[in-house]
This record gives sequence, C-alpha cells and structure tokens, in this order.
Amino acid sequence: MNQKVVLITGCSSGIGLALAVRFANDEKKRFMVYATMRNLSKSKALVEAAGRSLGRTLEIKQLDVCDENSIKACVDSLPERRVDILISNAGLGLIGPIECQSIEQMKVVMDTNFFGFVRLLKEILPDMKRRKRGHIVVISSVMGIQGMLFNDIYSASKFAVEGFCESLVVQSMRFKINITLIEPGPVITEFEHKVYGEGLKTDLSKADKDTADMFTNIYLKNYREIFESVGQTAEDIAEHTLMIVTMDNPPFRHQTNMLYTPMTTLKYADPSGDLSIDEFYKMVFEHDKVFHASLNFLKLLRWRSRKSFSLEKSK
Ligand SMILES: NC(=O)c1ccc[n+]([C@@H]2O[C@H](COP(=O)([O-])OP(=O)(O)OC[C@H]3O[C@@H](n4cnc5c(N)ncnc54)[C@H](OP(=O)(O)O)[C@@H]3O)[C@@H](O)[C@H]2O)c1
Repeated sequence: MNQKVVLITGCSSGIGLALAVRFANDEKKRFMVYATMRNLSKSKALVEAAGRSLGRTLEIKQLDVCDENSIKACVDSLPERRVDILISNAGLGLIGPIECQSIEQMKVVMDTNFFGFVRLLKEILPDMKRRKRGHIVVISSVMGIQGMLFNDIYSASKFAVEGFCESLVVQSMRFKINITLIEPGPVITEFEHKVYGEGLKTDLSKADKDTADMFTNIYLKNYREIFESVGQTAEDIAEHTLMIVTMDNPPFRHQTNMLYTPMTTLKYADPSGDLSIDEFYKMVFEHDKVFHASLNFLKLLRWRSRKSFSLEKSK
C-alpha cells in the first residue's frame, strides 16, 4: 500500500492531537502518521483517542521544535527519513500589554512559533527537494493576516511564518513541493484556557491605568465570549486539513472559519490598511454594543443549529 508519511508536531493536545487521530483513522488508510510531542509523558490523551490505529497507522515520537537534536533524532528514526506531509502545528500564545511582558517571554513565543518551524524545515526540506515531492502544511492563524488587540507578539510570530512561507513557496514549486497555510480563527482547545489563564495572572503594574483597564475590561471580558460564539473545534480544523492535503492542487492559504473572512477581506481590499484598522477600532471602542449583540446572535444560531443537528441524528 502506498501510504503517505505524515509528521505532525505538538500532538499532546488540541489541534495536533485531533489531526493525528483524524489522519491515522482515515477510512482509506492513506496515511502513516508520526505524531510527535516534546514531552512523551503527556501522551495519554493521544493514546486513548488513537484507539486501534496506535501501532498500525499511528506512532508517537518525541520532538521538541526548540531543539535541533531532538528534531534530527526523530527524522533519523523514520524509515528512509521520509516525510511526505509535514504538519507544523506546535505553538504557543501570549496576550497582554507589551510593557508587562519580558523580552524572554516574547523570545519563547518567536522561538517556538517561528524558529521551531524553520528548524523543522532545515531538517526535512532538503530530503523533500531531493525526492521532488512533499507538502508542507502550517497551522498558522487569521492573526497571521490581521493583527489583533493585545496579541502583538503572537500575531508577529504568525506574520513571520506567513512571510517566510510566501518567500519560500516560489522556490519550493520548482521542486514540486506544496506549501499551505491553514488559518483558523478561534479554536476551543487547551490553548484558549492556557492563554486566558496566563492573561488573568498578568502583572499589570507596569501598564498605565487606561491600558490596564482596556486589557481587563475590554479584551479579557470579551475573550471567552468570542471563543464561545465563533470558536471552532480542533476536529473541524483536522477535517479542513485533511481536505487540503488530499486536493490535487492545494491552495497556498486556507481560512477555516467563514465568519472571519469579512475581516481579512477588508485588509486585502485596502492596501493602505486604514479600512481594516478603522473597522477594528470602531468595533472595539464605538460599536461595542452592536458587537456584543452580534456575538449573542451567533451564539444563538450555533446553539439552534447544534440542537437541530442532534435532533436530526436522534431521529
Ligand atoms: N486555539 C486557537 O484558538 C488557535 C487558533 C489559530 C491557530 N492556532 C494554532 O494552532 C496550533 C495548535 O494550538 P492548539 O490550539 O492545539 O493549542 P494546544 O492545545 O495548547 O497545543 C499546542 C501544542 O504545541 C505543543 N508545543 C508547545 N511548545 C512546543 C515545543 N517546543 N515543541 C513541540 N511541541 C510544542 C504543546 O505541547 P505541550 O503540551 O508540551 O505544551 C501542545 O501539544 C498553534 O500553532 C496555534 O498557534 C490555535
């Protein structure tokens, strides 16, 4: 059987875990999945979710994207070092006013989200070029297209990944290697809990009163509501990614959440950037009541569609 070898990073939870399980349980058994994580003691959730695919179409391996030796050891352990599809998923978030964040904290985010991906490619890209095939898939974010209030460093790390890929893709096309940026909006995973929890603990003493107030009473106050209203599941993202890697001509960019496309379209519509920035400003500071009403409306629509979906299923 001509199975494609898929290597996924950050599979201890969230999107990585869902990707590993979805690809390994592919009905047509098209994939052999190497699901990697930096800390193997966190493999319980994946082992449980993998079920019968474990040891058949799924193997778990150690890989820390911040450690070149660990990446090399993992790739060396694969048969012929072959990776047909690389899914770079491992990532960290960081929210808050920059005056309350240390450069060290910021470097960890850039080192994981950007350099982590670059390290993977330095190990895997030369083999893909030699074989003249491969697909590099990056779990980026809509924040790689449009910056977001109090996500300055996280957004910068995703912009870095996007700029890097836009530069590399022209060269990689000469080697028949595809690159795809998957761009989800909010996804309900550990990420949301970790980032929100860290956000609540932020020492705001270095920020002025207005900034601290904006972070606590506007950003954090809306954070959960946004995830609840428009957030997707990790399984949704896995389904989108599976669709992309099985396409004959996969796109360079793929947004998973239709509710976010108007926002990113504004950015492409106006090269000066003013249109999208003005809209954001108004949404946060001037039309906050309309914004809340829209979120509540979306929440209601989602609740109703889930209800009708479960009723359909139980018929
Ligand atoms: N959740 C969202 O709203 C959302 C939206 C758009 C894009 N994304 C992107 O989706 C990706 C996955 O996030 P998620 O939502 O699934 O969050 P998650 O549940 O927190 O998963 C993140 C994964 O990355 C791993 N990781 C962190 N540092 C690593 C390192 N140095 N080496 C290897 N693995 C490392 C974590 O491992 P540990 O368990 O060891 O920490 C974990 O397995 C990220 O790139 C994120 O930026 C998320």
